[in-house]
Amino acid sequence: MEMDADELLAQLFLTPEGLREPYALYERVRDLTPVHRTALGHWVVTGYDDVNTFLRSQHALKDPYRVFAPWVGKDEWQEHAALRRLPNIMLWANPPDHTRLRKLAGFAFTNRAVQAMRPQITAMVEGLADKLERDGVIDYMKDFAFPLPAMATGRMLGIPDADLPSLQEPMRAFQDIYELGLTPDDLAACDKGAQFTDDYFSELVEERRKNPGDDLLSALIAAKDGADQLSQGELIGMCNLLFGAGFETTTNLLGNGMLALLRHPEQMDRLRAQPELIPNAVEEMLRYDSPTQLGNRVTDSPVEIAGTVIPEGSSVVALVGAAHRDPRRFPDPDRFDVGRGDAPVLSFSSGIHYCLGASLARMEAQIAFSTLLRRFPGLHCPGGADAVVFRPRLTLRGVESLPLATG
Ligand code: HEM
Repeated sequence: MEMDADELLAQLFLTPEGLREPYALYERVRDLTPVHRTALGHWVVTGYDDVNTFLRSQHALKDPYRVFAPWVGKDEWQEHAALRRLPNIMLWANPPDHTRLRKLAGFAFTNRAVQAMRPQITAMVEGLADKLERDGVIDYMKDFAFPLPAMATGRMLGIPDADLPSLQEPMRAFQDIYELGLTPDDLAACDKGAQFTDDYFSELVEERRKNPGDDLLSALIAAKDGADQLSQGELIGMCNLLFGAGFETTTNLLGNGMLALLRHPEQMDRLRAQPELIPNAVEEMLRYDSPTQLGNRVTDSPVEIAGTVIPEGSSVVALVGAAHRDPRRFPDPDRFDVGRGDAPVLSFSSGIHYCLGASLARMEAQIAFSTLLRRFPGLHCPGGADAVVFRPRLTLRGVESLPLATG
């Protein structure tokens, strides 16, 4: 039976099967319509050029209150630890607040600070790879893909290594706030996670105020634009953002990328033979199975996309995951090809919110894949990579567990 775009989107967003395996559904929606207004009044954009143009539009704004309106009224926000800080976090802010926060963060989060992490990240990767060599088999998600970005961003921020394990679950619970279709129980779990990380970072900020170090948090505390500085609440929000944005997404890049290689052994062999393709391969991993599949915006005036006018005040989902499989941009889009270099990926968004940590994430992934491929010629997934299942989450797409063996 032919389904219309609304039925396909309901299957995509509201069923575990759709969330786990979205690509065939994306394609069918995109074939029906490049820009679609759903029966509920939301808009969905699916093509590469259209998603890119939309994300760059100065009339596509963040409106956290609107995004969460189906679940929580604006007057209840203060009761929710997971929500109350969002309007002051740059990811959710609009100009001029966004411009101000981004500028202050940019004084501390510099390219130099990222490049200075290279030797430490290399040592972390070698250390995690030693465990794989010793044990012969690991849970790659738990033993590699999670600890690497957590340690890298943690070190950069100035979080003691010993505190990292206790932050994992609360941070992950908090991040579920980005998923569509929250239940009251989900929101309560997000709140619990957010309260924990808020308390933790508020103490860490106090500690670094007293004893500044050679770390990003100390630099953020000191960052000044004239007389302007980040407030205590903004610093806590910035820590939550940097640490949160820095690990679940990168963890999923490492996970989805490894899974793509395991499912395409000929591409893994090609990469071993041509390690100079690693940077390219990481871009292809981001395209093929992006850790971030969508972006939400609200229009503050009419925006024309693909000949359709999206009216002012519309809530719009830009489907990055679908854009990455757009055959007009990527010939044979469902093929994973580490030699591809067709177009810039949209995994890090586009426009003013373009990911601040993109170069850090790329560096971690490039070092990780080049080291693992070099050290382990027989990498495989016991039980078969096709048996691995994705978490039923779409905004941040990834797997729970991925067994990885060396011989
Ligand atoms: C593969 C890894 C990563 C992916 C896929 C990713 C993706 C994204 C995306 C899609 C956005 C924009 C969201 C939107 O427009 O609504 C974003 C923003 C951001 N990311 Fe990342 N990110 C990654 C890693 C990192 C890392 C390692 C850091 C820092 C440690 C980081 C820090 C940030 C920050 C601070 C923003 C907010 C920028 C702004 O609003 O101006 N990200 N990221």
